[in-house]
Amino acid sequence: MSKEKVLIAGGSGLVGQFLADDLHQKGYAVSILSRSAKSHPKFTYYKWDVVAGIIDDEALKVDHIINLTGAGIADKRWTDKRKKEIIDSRVDSTMLIKKELHKNGLHLKTYTSASAIGIYGDRGEEKLSESAVINQDSFMVQCCKKWEAAAQTLNIHCDRLSIIRIGIVISSNGGALQKFILPIKLGQANYFGDGQHYYSWIHIEDLSELFYKCICDINYSGIINGVAPSPLTNKAFMIECKKAIASYALVYPVPKWVMKIALGEMSAVILNSNRVMPDQLEKLNFSYKHPDLEKAVDDVIKREI
Ligand SMILES: NC(=O)c1ccc[n+]([C@@H]2O[C@H](COP(=O)([O-])OP(=O)(O)OC[C@H]3O[C@@H](n4cnc5c(N)ncnc54)[C@H](OP(=O)(O)O)[C@@H]3O)[C@@H](O)[C@H]2O)c1
Repeated sequence: MSKEKVLIAGGSGLVGQFLADDLHQKGYAVSILSRSAKSHPKFTYYKWDVVAGIIDDEALKVDHIINLTGAGIADKRWTDKRKKEIIDSRVDSTMLIKKELHKNGLHLKTYTSASAIGIYGDRGEEKLSESAVINQDSFMVQCCKKWEAAAQTLNIHCDRLSIIRIGIVISSNGGALQKFILPIKLGQANYFGDGQHYYSWIHIEDLSELFYKCICDINYSGIINGVAPSPLTNKAFMIECKKAIASYALVYPVPKWVMKIALGEMSAVILNSNRVMPDQLEKLNFSYKHPDLEKAVDDVIKREI
């Protein structure tokens, strides 16, 4: 029997690399859609140029598409130009895929899009399930709403569509955790302000399993919070990371205003409170390998994944 084909758009990044390996091991023929063509022993790389509206002809002839594309949310200060790039890279890449599927009369078994828990905005202690009302209008909220609205339009081109609102991905290979790990290794586990704002997170292995389920299990569809069942306050989060990384590190606060001056509006990424609960995953009896943060951090550091 021939293998099912999965295209991961934006698959060269932190999540995509892990997911591509995982799906390859699970028996899928995996290809990656990237701005730069590469040769790879296991995966076919296809090239696209979202701004010019061009995709390699063969790229979309697959059973499943997972779209992880997007300019890094916390890579550069949020100038107007950067904000436009953050939104356009997500919305325009989605609409380009839609346009090409339509033009070539292609139909997918599944389309799965990344989104982010930033869609809920800054919500204090409120527990946020997938049905939480989105009642704020900050940049991340606007960005995620546009991103998800674009993704939803793909529903006519697939049998099943899922959107994963991803929390902080626990991986030692980059992303937010890496930014926390370095100071801890240098002996400083900083929390921000009173540290009472919530962080919701997910181990990369559990996130990868979730994307796999969206492909192969018909019960997975719609909006799904991609988070572990145990969101923690920022202070508790740093203490758990410290336990896993360097127990000698001192835990102390950095005033929020320092981060606001250093990062500008982008400080929302570390200062907002997102107590996001995986209600859909609990209904689906999703089995987490890493529900505990200290063990999750310890695991990625030992395995460097
Ligand atoms: N990591 C997290 O903690 C986290 C949390 C919440 C949500 N998410 C979302 O989940 C998705 C995957 O996360 P990730 O950490 O794997 O992201 P990542 O490492 O930044 O990878 C995203 C990929 O998107 C492509 N890309 C970047 N800028 C682009 C642009 N201007 N135009 C077109 N493509 C562009 C890049 O691929 P090429 O260079 O090969 O083109 C890059 O490898 C992202 O959309 C991210 O926002 C991640």
